[in-house]
Order: sequence, then C-alpha cells, then structure tokens
Amino acid sequence: MQSRELKLARHPQGRVRSDDFSLDVVSVPEGLGPGDILVRNSWLSIDPSVRMRLGPTGPAGYLPPFRIGETLTGLAVGEVVQSRAPGFEPGDMVLHINGFREFAVIRQDGDTLAGAGGVTRLDTTEHSPQSYLGALGSSGLTAYVGLQCIGELTDDDVVWISSAAGAVGSLAAQIARLRGHYVVGSTGSAEKARFLSEELKLDAVFDYHTPDLIGALESAAPNGIDLYFDNVGGAHLEAALYHLRRGGRVAMAGAVASYDAETAAAGPNNLFQIVAKNLTVRGFRAGAYDHLLGDMRAEVGNYLRDGRLVAAETVFDGLESAPDAIVAMLRGRTVGKTLCRLR
Ligand SMILES: NC(=O)c1ccc[n+]([C@@H]2O[C@H](COP(=O)([O-])OP(=O)(O)OC[C@H]3O[C@@H](n4cnc5c(N)ncnc54)[C@H](OP(=O)(O)O)[C@@H]3O)[C@@H](O)[C@H]2O)c1
Repeated sequence: MQSRELKLARHPQGRVRSDDFSLDVVSVPEGLGPGDILVRNSWLSIDPSVRMRLGPTGPAGYLPPFRIGETLTGLAVGEVVQSRAPGFEPGDMVLHINGFREFAVIRQDGDTLAGAGGVTRLDTTEHSPQSYLGALGSSGLTAYVGLQCIGELTDDDVVWISSAAGAVGSLAAQIARLRGHYVVGSTGSAEKARFLSEELKLDAVFDYHTPDLIGALESAAPNGIDLYFDNVGGAHLEAALYHLRRGGRVAMAGAVASYDAETAAAGPNNLFQIVAKNLTVRGFRAGAYDHLLGDMRAEVGNYLRDGRLVAAETVFDGLESAPDAIVAMLRGRTVGKTLCRLR
C-alpha cells in the first residue's frame, strides 16, 4: 500500500513558502509488529510550532528541527485500519502525532511531542473528530492552562488575549468571557476584529496594525489589564508590561511574531516594569499539563454542548494543501483552528 507524506524540501529563507515542502509517495510497511497500529489519517492540525522546526537549528529546549527530506510530524486524528495494540480496534478514531501523511504506523508507546499527543482513542459520539485537535485538544488545553494555572485568572480580572482570532486565542478569549471577565482581543485585520466583536462577543477589540499599539490597548482597557495571555511576544508583550496593573500576570504561550519573521522580532525594552509593578511573567507548554485535559474537556465540552462557544475552523482539503495551510495560518489568513482534511 502506498501513502503520500509531506517532507521538508529545504530550510525556509525568511517567511515559509509552500515550495519549502515536497509531497512524496512512500510504501506503507507490510505487517505490523506487536504494539503497532496502522491509521488512515483524516484530520491534521496546522500549528505555528511547525515553523520553529523548519530551520537548520531550533530554539534551545524545544522540539528538534526536521532534517531535509524528513517527513513532518504533528498532531492528527485518524481511523485505525489494523491493530496489534491492546485496546485499539479497526474503526476506532485515535489522536496521535504522526500527522502530515495519509497512512501512519504508530507505536502504542511511541513519541508524544513533549506530552502533546500520545496515541489515544477518541469518543466521537458527541463531538467531531477534529474538535480533539482544536477546542477539546491541544488548543483548548493551552487556552485553559494559560488562563487557569499560569495566569491564575481571578474574579474581576481584565484580560488581554493576543492573536485572539486564532485557535488558542479564540478559545482563551471565550473561556475568559464565559467566566464573566472583561476581555480585550487583538488581531491582524478589520475583518478578524469584526469576528471577535460580533461572533465571539468580546468586550473590546483592536487591529494591532497601528502605529500606537499601547494607545490601542489603553483605549480598549482604559483602567489597565490584570492578565495578558501572550501568543505573540515582541511589541505586544512590551505594550502589556506598560499597561498591566500592579500584581498583574503574563501567561506566555508563544511568540508567533518571531517564528516566520525575516529578522528576529525586537524584545520588550521595558522589563523593569516587571519589578516596578510586581508582575509575574511565566511561560508554559500545555503538554506538561495533560493531566488537566479532563477538566478542560468538562468545561469546554459544556460550552460546546450549550452552543455558548464558537469553535471556528479554517479547513484546507487534501494533503497537497498542507503547505498552503501552514503559509496561510502564519500570515494571518485563517480564522480559528487551522486544519487539513484528508480524503
Ligand atoms: N505553549 C503551548 O503549549 C502552545 C500550544 C499551542 C500553541 N501555542 C502558541 O500559541 C500561539 C497561537 O497558536 P495557534 O495554534 O492558536 O495559532 P493561530 O493563532 O491560530 O495562528 C497564528 C496567528 O498568529 C498571528 N500572527 C502571525 N504573525 C504575527 C505577527 N507578526 N504579529 C502578531 N500576530 C501574528 C496571525 O493572526 P493575525 O491575523 O491576528 O495576525 C495568525 O493567524 C502561537 O504562539 C503558538 O506557538 C502554544
């Protein structure tokens, strides 16, 4: 049996391009070993983190870079075709990390991408398979942990979420709003700003393409903010440090402004604000908090069931569209969770 796989063709120069990848046909190994599961992938998660693995070197302490010619990995959902692993039967839907290919042979005790996705059976009777990549998966867990554990969200906190129209941001913004907080969301276009105010019902929104980011934040939250959920880094983090109230917190989920930039984004020049105002700035990777997946799914699953949470998706079709999906997501052309659906 043959399967198409997406490989890294060359290291991107500056912004990633679709032709930095190649689509190759490979033979799926015949005969499974003990503990192996053959899966036909149906949904791929398109995440900014893939960008950090495309260069010759990656950030220290992070997932290792892909080699030229290596098949990409990433979170995926698929259907079990054959299994020699106890507890997995043909027809089961599973979450795993061997995305970016049509068929995957997965080891039951294989890699988990730092806790982000060990192979697990999914109950898709109530929620869609792809929701386990978005609202009920890694994006939801990142949003939940960032607010709850890292940001220590407290009654009456005023919250700013950057990249608020994206997968993690749109969930963090809605969880905070549904818990009764005043939520400011920022994004990169007027159309996405409209999505934030009209569909996600955020209290204040702005497009960060402004010469005065701090002014835009001040207008959105005139009395300051208590929690900044940082998806972007750079100038956004600097604006937050100026505008946080005494005792405020920053939950750092990512720094997407620097992932695909031709030159490294400037860092905040006002770190002394952390001292001056007793701020707490704390980074995290959701994979280290997978013991909270059940708690997150209980809360977010309820919101989904009641129709109170919008789980927006931008879907690309076919493995051949995965490079375009990566490019579009990093350039801000997608809304909500970016996914690739395989036929
Ligand atoms: N810590 C963790 O465990 C964890 C897990 C998952 C994701 N993350 C991080 O969370 C963040 C969001 O991830 P996601 O999956 O939800 O992606 P996403 O927000 O759905 O997509 C990325 C978005 O980043 C925005 N962006 C791109 N370049 C930018 C720039 N120069 N300045 C400001 N915004 C820019 C774009 O939206 P605009 O149109 O708004 O510009 C783009 O759509 C990323 O930093 C990611 O690395 C962390």
